[in-house]
Amino acid sequence: MSSNRTRRSAIYPGSFDPITNGHEDIVHRTLDFCDRVIVAVGHRATQQKQGLFTIAERVELIEEVFRGEPRVEVAAFSGLLVDFARERGVHLIVRGLRAVSDFEYEFQMALMNRDLNPDIETLFLAPDARYSYLSASLVREIASLGGDVSEFVPSVVLGRLLNKLSEAS
Ligand code: PNS
Repeated sequence: MSSNRTRRSAIYPGSFDPITNGHEDIVHRTLDFCDRVIVAVGHRATQQKQGLFTIAERVELIEEVFRGEPRVEVAAFSGLLVDFARERGVHLIVRGLRAVSDFEYEFQMALMNRDLNPDIETLFLAPDARYSYLSASLVREIASLGGDVSEFVPSVVLGRLLNKLSEAS
């Protein structure tokens, strides 16, 4: 790998359905050592269901969360993550690693992505311990059953989540 390549930009990919405080924490940690983070909303290749928020809504929510932070760009992508990274000229993928249970899937994806494009490196960041058991799917489930998720999502997301769930019911 060449040593003169700039690595100041990172892609932080995910489903973000919706963005949580854990995701936000990972973005801020990335900004400690990167000049720019592209938060990239993608589809899981195996995903059958549409999800709660549309891709456009997820993008909009993330933009609202990082309004006023010019180092964060938000984008949606379909297709391979490595192709999106190549198009953007980014060589670094960041993923949050919450617990050992994440490891197998994340390790598999990182190695597969490296196989697909050896110029792209994956870096794992540990979130704040407060978020180590937090996931967007649990947030959706708890909120849909009437539980309080206000400490797990940014306030803008909380409002949209409650509206969305009341529309659906
Ligand atoms: O938040 P998630 O659901 O764990 O994010 C998964 C995501 C979107 C990062 C992953 O599914 C992905 O990269 N999808 C794009 C398609 C792709 O490149 N698949 C091959 C991965 S090795």
